[in-house]
Amino acid sequence: MNGIEPVAAALRRARGVVVLTGAGVSVESGLRSFRGRDGWWRGHDPARLATPEAFEADPALVSEWYDTRRLAALAAAPNPAHEAIAELERQVVVAGGRFQLVTQNVDGLHQRAGSERLVELHGNLTVWRDHRSGRRVTPGPAAFEAYPVPGPDGGWLRPDVVWFGEFLPPAALAAAAAAAASCDVMLVVGTSAVVFPAASLVVEAAAAGAVTVEVNVEATPAAVGHRLIGAAGEVLPRLVRASWPSARPRG
Ligand code: OAD
Repeated sequence: MNGIEPVAAALRRARGVVVLTGAGVSVESGLRSFRGRDGWWRGHDPARLATPEAFEADPALVSEWYDTRRLAALAAAPNPAHEAIAELERQVVVAGGRFQLVTQNVDGLHQRAGSERLVELHGNLTVWRDHRSGRRVTPGPAAFEAYPVPGPDGGWLRPDVVWFGEFLPPAALAAAAAAAASCDVMLVVGTSAVVFPAASLVVEAAAAGAVTVEVNVEATPAAVGHRLIGAAGEVLPRLVRASWPSARPRG
């Protein structure tokens, strides 16, 4: 079903709201998605860049690729989609409701837009860790001088993100699953909804009776009740204004 009004009405009534985001939410900040048009995985093999085996085989290649993405994320600014999600959180919380943002993104833009109740299912690109000891460091704003990068405990530095074949942070996943199972509305924004377990959160929310809504430039395989087709930076500010006329999100 299309149309913003029924979704706005559901948001106004909701006592629990979950927003699940993917790389599409940062496209309007100039960052590349993975599977979308111009996505990373169109020209690169994820098995050679985003797995522990790839890092073992070629730590220089993998760390340089992630450093390029880290610098792009640091140079990018949150866009109206990130800001509308932060505003949505404020509106739900002020009305006494529960809110949980669940992101697969590792770029840190949601926090910079002001989102507070946030779990990062796939980690964060701006933090790195020694691949032997796990000790975390936050690198400065410049590129590393050479790759691979020596860590503080004799290993190489790797980004603090989740690679294919690795476990998601258990506390983040548990918080996301609990919120999904008890929400009244779930918005699924800018994700191709093909990577599990993130994609299963939509199924859990729907099974629990939530109104499920996709915001995407195209329809994905996600089984949702409503689709708002368009750029997140345009659709979300409109949706927030339609839901709470006093809200003033940019965009
Ligand atoms: P994808 O690249 O798979 O999907 C991005 C989605 O955003 C697509 O469905 C696009 O249609 C949509 N999109 C693009 N621009 C948009 C816009 N302006 N507004 C709204 N939607 C837009 O990215 P994810 O679903 O995030 O994991 O991918 C999930 C995971 O797969 C990532 O976290 C990453 C990746 O491989 C790992 O690296 C482990």
